[in-house]
Amino acid sequence: MPYFQWSDSLLMGIKAIDDQHRQLVDMVNSLHDAVEASGQHCPAPDLVARLKAYAAEHFHVEEGYMQAFGYPEFEAHLKEHQYFSDAVTTFEDNWATDTANPAEVLDFLKKWLTEHITGVDVQMGRFLEDYLR
Ligand SMILES: [Fe+2]
Repeated sequence: MPYFQWSDSLLMGIKAIDDQHRQLVDMVNSLHDAVEASGQHCPAPDLVARLKAYAAEHFHVEEGYMQAFGYPEFEAHLKEHQYFSDAVTTFEDNWATDTANPAEVLDFLKKWLTEHITGVDVQMGRFLEDYLR
């Protein structure tokens, strides 16, 4: 069983966004596998950098949908994305200097993504489904 098990409770209903969420889950699993397989403390810093870049791209897509359809919770949702991006930037910096705690980072990524997707992303999906279906 992977570290971060995909489940249909993570589906928010817009295929393009669901596919990106799956990709993020895969990236967390790749980071987890690298940590497990490596004798080093903070292995594969490129995986953290790639996850950060992909999350930024993904947030941009979600924010585009929200803006296009005048989503009323846009500002609050944006703040959550900003919080995650700031946290991952800190992880990236700490990873590069080998001062990150890999288990804590992985735990944060898994928990934040699960809570964000099943919470505000699912909510956003319900709002957008009126326009997109
Ligand atoms: Fe989101």
